[in-house]
Amino acid sequence: MNDRIRTDIAHNARVWNYWLGGKDNYPVDRAVGDQVTGFYPSIGEVARADRAFLGRVVTHLAAEADLRQFLDIGTGLPTADNTHEVAQRVAPDARIVYVDNDPIVLTHARALLTSAPEGVTEYVDADAHDPERIVAASLGTLDLSRPVAVMMLGILNFVLDTDEAGSIVRTLMAAVPSGSHLVLTHPTLEPELGGEGNKAAMDFWNENATPPITARTREEFTSFFDGLDLLEPGIVSCSRWRSEEGPVVAQFGAVGRKP
Ligand SMILES: C[S@@+](CC[C@H](N)C(=O)[O-])C[C@H]1O[C@@H](n2cnc3c(N)ncnc32)[C@H](O)[C@@H]1O
Repeated sequence: MNDRIRTDIAHNARVWNYWLGGKDNYPVDRAVGDQVTGFYPSIGEVARADRAFLGRVVTHLAAEADLRQFLDIGTGLPTADNTHEVAQRVAPDARIVYVDNDPIVLTHARALLTSAPEGVTEYVDADAHDPERIVAASLGTLDLSRPVAVMMLGILNFVLDTDEAGSIVRTLMAAVPSGSHLVLTHPTLEPELGGEGNKAAMDFWNENATPPITARTREEFTSFFDGLDLLEPGIVSCSRWRSEEGPVVAQFGAVGRKP
């Protein structure tokens, strides 16, 4: 086993996998996952809504916006409909770079690296706090003179300082040209999305699991899109981004285009 993999403390990638019905998790992940569900029963719906959002957005970007390059930071463990599968269903020549810093995602990276023969997938073991390294590592696979979809779904919430999170987004978006898109999802405590119940769950998470997490307000989430043109319908629950299906969840989702 990879000696970075700790089985004595719950890891986000593995608990997320548990909530999505996956098998790549340990007893400690299932125990914490169940306790978080006790505090915040809709967390499983949040995870499923987030993945469904990913599917709709990547399909839209490949089919309607003609994007052929995807930088998916905070990939998570392989599940149904990973970014390359969704993108290459529309455009077999799509090129995808996956980035995560969890050692268990690294051990499963081979499953993420199956690509349509016309396209490419690559996996980079890197930390979101180091966007310059992510940009440099992407250069072998992505042509940064052509538009890129920069995806950070459920990961900026692990960058605890909002100024730093904003700076990471700006560094990444500065490295890609006009026509590139930023795709974000992020948990919130905003009552408009029923997020109040998330507070006790996040406090419990921060005492019992890793990495520590934070929620953000609508205003903070909106600030990550400064300088970009928001696609319709703007900033909504990720379950309501071009969908009326399923419950409203306390996870913002939005897509912005670099002018
Ligand atoms: C909530 S999961 C989301 C997975 C996937 N993006 C999705 O939306 O289904 C967050 C992922 O971000 C990864 N992650 C957390 N902090 C990170 C960091 N500082 N750098 C890179 N990846 C990180 C975790 O390992 C986990 O796989």
